[in-house]
Amino acid sequence: MSYKEGMLRDGALENKTIIVTGGGTGLGKSMATYFLKLGANIVICSRRLEVLENTAKELEEHVGGKVLAVACDVRKTDEIENVIARSIEKFGQVDGLVNNSAGNFISPTERLSYKAVDTVVDIVLRGTYYFTLALGKYWIENKIKGTVLNISTTYAWTGSGWVVPSAMAKAGVLAMTKSLAFEWADHGIRLNAIAPGPFPTKGAWDRLFPEELAKKFSFENRIPLQRVGDHQELANLAAYLISDFSAYITGEVITLDGGEVLSAGQFNFLKEVSDDQWDAIEDQIKNANRNSKKAE
Ligand code: HXC
Ligand code: NAP
Repeated sequence: MSYKEGMLRDGALENKTIIVTGGGTGLGKSMATYFLKLGANIVICSRRLEVLENTAKELEEHVGGKVLAVACDVRKTDEIENVIARSIEKFGQVDGLVNNSAGNFISPTERLSYKAVDTVVDIVLRGTYYFTLALGKYWIENKIKGTVLNISTTYAWTGSGWVVPSAMAKAGVLAMTKSLAFEWADHGIRLNAIAPGPFPTKGAWDRLFPEELAKKFSFENRIPLQRVGDHQELANLAAYLISDFSAYITGEVITLDGGEVLSAGQFNFLKEVSDDQWDAIEDQIKNANRNSKKAE
């Protein structure tokens, strides 16, 4: 058994229709692929229809099942409503939403134009609350116990320099997750989030770890578990959270990062201390203890 294998049983998502925003590429595509394998009908949407259609074709050919591709800029409510209408028309109803679309790039914040900040915040935060609101209204009106999964980041709560618009927006997404999880629990609607660590994708790596940086700062050395994430690991957790197996979990954010976020621990710098140095340090501390006892 390995973390590179699917975790849930066959048919775990049968009779569910799940919309994955940004499902044509990267992690969205990996989640959509696994949901499809588990029996769900899949709707993928983002700005580039050609990319979506290629992914839909590839998935139907290699996995089977049904994939609907619809162009949609998540900053536009009419386009979101069109995705939902097309999904209902094709599959009868919508049961799940993965808010995965994002825009991001590294930059010193003072170099950003107002528009650059708006662009990232609008895709990540506005896109997520527009889509969630549109589906929430539909679910409540039609008494459907829908499930939302938001893809956040660990810096939503630690903060991070050089990705400030993304950090602000992802923090908003987390606040929405927890707030609505409580408010819409009465309707049986659940909202959860995943905070992934580094999972290599072209979209993220081109904008966050261009070659210049990748050469200098390898993840393997910075992550306590000494590796980047495997897409199937994230797809496994996502499938669980979107499925009925997680029926008692709501308002939760699960970190999947090999321990990366723990690096902030105040004494974690002690990782650099050698065994010989520990011998000397232990002696020093014990001496100090003896001296303080003598002084009493
Ligand atoms: C400074 C920049 C910039 C950069 C764009 N801008 N890139 N400013 N440094 N590197 C500015 C532009 O000059 C413009 O402002 C404004 O941002 C909008 O840029 P456009 O190119 O017109 O926008 P658009 O075509 O809508 O593209 C959006 C985008 C792009 C976000 C800029 O990168 C994109 O399409 N991203 C989608 C995919 C993505 O980002 N994936 C990564 C997600 S990874 P002005 O004022 O000049 O007009 C992720 C992981 C987090 O979130 C955690 C990892 C561990
Ligand atoms: P990605 O492949 O670049 O995915 C981003 C997706 O968002 C693309 O498919 C893109 O498609 C879509 N998108 C961008 N702007 C959009 C808009 N205005 N409307 C609709 N869709 C839009 O990168 P990824 O790494 O897989 O990221 C997926 C998610 O994981 C994001 O939420 C990201 O923040 C999160 N995440 C990733 C990592 C990582 O290490 N990879 C770590 C933490 C969190 P179009 O260009 O066709 O619109």
